[in-house]
Amino acid sequence: MENIVEMRNIRKEFPGIVANDNVSIELRKGEVHALLGENGAGKSTLMSILFGLYQPEQGEIFIRGKKVRITDPNVANELGIGMVHQHFKLVHNFTVTQNIILGRESKRFGFVVDEKSASRRIRALSERYALNVNPDAKIEDISVGMQQRVEILKMLYRDAEALIFDEPTSVLTPQEIHELMKIMRNLIDEGKSIILITHKLREIKEIADRCTVLRRGRVIGTVDVASTTEARMAEMMVGREVSFKVDKKPAVPGDVVLKIEGLNVLSARKVLGLTDFSLEVRAGEIVGVAGVDGNGQSELVEAVTGMRSVESGTIRLRGRDITKQGVRERIREGIAHIPEDRHKHGLVLDYTVQENMILETYDQKPFSNHGLLDFPEIRKYAECIVEAFDVRAGEGVDSLARSLSGGNQQKAIVGREIELDPDLLVAVQPTRGLDVGAIEYIHKRLVEQRDSGKAVLLVSLELDEILNLSDRIVVVSHGALIGDVQADETDENEVGLMMTGIRKGESA
Ligand SMILES: Nc1ncnc2c1ncn2[C@@H]1O[C@H](COP(=O)(O)OP(=O)(O)OP(=O)(O)O)[C@@H](O)[C@H]1O
Ligand SMILES: [Mg+2]
Repeated sequence: MENIVEMRNIRKEFPGIVANDNVSIELRKGEVHALLGENGAGKSTLMSILFGLYQPEQGEIFIRGKKVRITDPNVANELGIGMVHQHFKLVHNFTVTQNIILGRESKRFGFVVDEKSASRRIRALSERYALNVNPDAKIEDISVGMQQRVEILKMLYRDAEALIFDEPTSVLTPQEIHELMKIMRNLIDEGKSIILITHKLREIKEIADRCTVLRRGRVIGTVDVASTTEARMAEMMVGREVSFKVDKKPAVPGDVVLKIEGLNVLSARKVLGLTDFSLEVRAGEIVGVAGVDGNGQSELVEAVTGMRSVESGTIRLRGRDITKQGVRERIREGIAHIPEDRHKHGLVLDYTVQENMILETYDQKPFSNHGLLDFPEIRKYAECIVEAFDVRAGEGVDSLARSLSGGNQQKAIVGREIELDPDLLVAVQPTRGLDVGAIEYIHKRLVEQRDSGKAVLLVSLELDEILNLSDRIVVVSHGALIGDVQADETDENEVGLMMTGIRKGESA
């Protein structure tokens, strides 16, 4: 079979780390080739080289058998290579069409592309690949899933044949993931070839033909997906067996830590986000919030952490009314928060890892003494977190947060928040973008947190994670709490049904 892309013996170094060490990979025409590996294994780096964003120190690239030098993304585009990045790069107050033709305005020929005809062509492409994108919509008005399709259209508009997807599903809802899988199949049917980076073995099983596994910058092997089990692929990437089941004893709930009563919260769109919402979380239990995305989860999290004010109702922490308190006060009272969007609320990307580890606590002992920062203490603390949570970075705690791989950024945030040892930990999608080994570890730490008598409020769109980790599961639908069940007395079907808005005991 013809190879559309071939990368041979690629080496790429960053200060303190070899991100790609003698890596070879080939993409056959018409295949979905998965790229699997631990956080920091070098997947995004390898694909950034193929897309012309980085130059390798060594190695060769062949496109359709011809040796090429991909000096920048424009060269990649001309060679028929497109990429959807881990974090999208769209201009929010531009329309879909404007975003797609951006940088394509034929400066070379000295005239501007006619937006109307571009819009027509985009509409036709959208129809051909069943993408359902309105070319005239503004980016700020469309969902994340739709924005991703705009990125796909951007590649198609440039006639890309080899399509790179860097963790496309980590930002999507389960429904959107299902849609994306269909889109990928359409793309293959139309003669495209795909490299797919994902941490979800189930997705690899569902869609990929072959899978190349990286570990610490090196290729461990390329396998045929149909004849390789998920457990085997996990073992190849991590170098040991991985347990997918969370090992935990029954919970022993104690006093009420978080008590929410009659809460009404407006959403960002000024419609009611939460309606007459009441919930208790006790010490020593993990309460999972299940629901279809956009049913009040964000409003709940924002209200509890102090990021959004409430219309009415009360929030109490260990009996104290905190409804009117700000974010920092609540952190001091004992609430920690693993945020949904790690770039917006989790990290300052241009700060070092150690600075990020004390973002919320730098003005407290032992990091600050009489207004002076104690740098050795800060370093020691950050190094402990980096060690415990296996945050991998070229220059350790001195690395800029920006230089960390996506998963390692996530591990740093989770580590920081758990290390606060809060009375209440609000964990929103805590394992987003993490490899299976890291997920196993984070889940273990969350259970430990519970076992040491802390309360954990877990919000996740992944039903597996909710079912696996929670002691009690509450279901939200249209801003209301419509179910409250013990995790060991329910199953995927029952919770799934409640998520569609049907209360327990009611029939469809
Ligand atoms: N611009 C950069 N400067 C310094 N180090 C970098 C840079 N980009 C990547 N690295 C380092 O190279 C290594 C590989 O990173 P890469 O982003 O390729 O990992 P990844 O396999 O995509 O991981 P993840 O699954 O977490 O996204 C990491 O240790 C990272 O810290
Ligand atoms: Mg990556």
